[in-house]
Amino acid sequence: MSATYESFIAAVREIGVLGSVEALLDWDSETYMPEGGLMARAEQISLIASLTHERRTSPKIGEWLSQLEGRVDDPAAQTNVREVRRAYDRATKLPAELVRRLSKVTVVSKEAWGKARADSDFAAFAPHLSELVDLKRQVADLVGYRGERYDALLDEYEPGMTAAEVEAVFTALRGPLSDFVKQIAAAPRKPDASILHRHFPRAAQEKFSRRIAEAIGFDFQCGRLDVSKHPFCSGVGPVDVRLTTRYYEDFFSPSVFGVMHEAGHGMYEQGLPTEHLFTPAGQAVSLGIHESQSRLWENFVGRSREFWEGLYPECRSNFSEALGSVALDDFHAAINIVEPSFIRVEADEVTYNLHIILRFEIERALIGGKLEARDVPEAWNAKMKEVLGITPPDAARGCLQDIHWSAGLFGYFPTYALGNLYAAQFFEAAEKVMPRLRGDIRAGNFADLLAWLRGNIHQHGMRYLPGELVQRVTGRPLSIEPFLNYVRTKFSPLYGLR
Ligand code: CO
Repeated sequence: MSATYESFIAAVREIGVLGSVEALLDWDSETYMPEGGLMARAEQISLIASLTHERRTSPKIGEWLSQLEGRVDDPAAQTNVREVRRAYDRATKLPAELVRRLSKVTVVSKEAWGKARADSDFAAFAPHLSELVDLKRQVADLVGYRGERYDALLDEYEPGMTAAEVEAVFTALRGPLSDFVKQIAAAPRKPDASILHRHFPRAAQEKFSRRIAEAIGFDFQCGRLDVSKHPFCSGVGPVDVRLTTRYYEDFFSPSVFGVMHEAGHGMYEQGLPTEHLFTPAGQAVSLGIHESQSRLWENFVGRSREFWEGLYPECRSNFSEALGSVALDDFHAAINIVEPSFIRVEADEVTYNLHIILRFEIERALIGGKLEARDVPEAWNAKMKEVLGITPPDAARGCLQDIHWSAGLFGYFPTYALGNLYAAQFFEAAEKVMPRLRGDIRAGNFADLLAWLRGNIHQHGMRYLPGELVQRVTGRPLSIEPFLNYVRTKFSPLYGLR
């Protein structure tokens, strides 16, 4: 490897190290930091962030990039040069003044959003949303795009994906999925989900969640599981992954499925190539692919009949007070209840994507200048009625429910639905080469599935962009068919539909 590349990659690694320090400080502030530490922590994080920004935009990086582009042969080196170029261009195209303004407006907007949501008062949030949209339009124009403004924002979370591609997929999905949800809503059979709201002692939940994370392959030698208000997965990379969850004694699902979800993210991190630690070649490729890993374990494995055929006896003896007299069939139906609802984060796997599609349509129109902030509630409610057949009683349960827009995250929502679609396509491909997969899941053997994910997805880091990765792993471009087949095959019998 050339001396230039050696200097370049040493600098890139240090930027990665700084980023991981920031992630740990952030993890700590969500888990163990005493309240009194808040101001000091803010100062620590802000210093690290500005050091990172300074290094990332240093002219030296620009010089190295122009010397190295087209002159490296090794795939990892090519990935690093390509991805550092992308980050460098993004960062240097934005004037410092705009970046400062955006971070200030974001802090104020998040605060205003919290209050507006508590009061269910959209009018109080509208001016902030309007200002943020305006700033993000400026960001998009400066970063540049080929198709439309929204592409520049989406590219940050799902590299290479465009609004037009997302639209094509979502438009095809919207009708059939919405019809299926309405069929389920009208079905005579209704699972009794109240069994999941009996008493589930916290200590038993902790033990059981940890046991499941271990069983599916999360490595506690290189990771931890702790408690936070909102569950997440972060850390230092494959060698040190931090998962969090939360426990409700009157609700079974959040801890068990939350842990499987975060462990899915965590196992992706643990499967990234350690030899490329702290560099793009050793990092996850996109939010959508990340979410595909969490959804695959949470839903395709964790909410399957086979998984509980194996594990339910143990589950029942763990929670004998609540589940002692509940049959497997009733438990399985309850954890798979499908119901049009207002809140995205509580949505089941059939309705979930519809929540995302409406957000995508609205934020794309906002960024594209086809919708003004003040008109969001009306657009929101009309779309809810259209796709889910329900109307939110207030803005708190409508367009004010998510923090994303107040945090300046536009172009982020689609990655959740893309994750579900990728997961279905990956799972279908895995099943094709592993005909015994469902039997393995029943027997509690997850090693082959994890090895398949490692070999096909995790070990590549950022080498292939999401579109390319999906094509390589499944032999075709992103498609809605595997997801639609999956939900129809799984939920029709549960609801007595043909
Ligand atoms: Co996730």
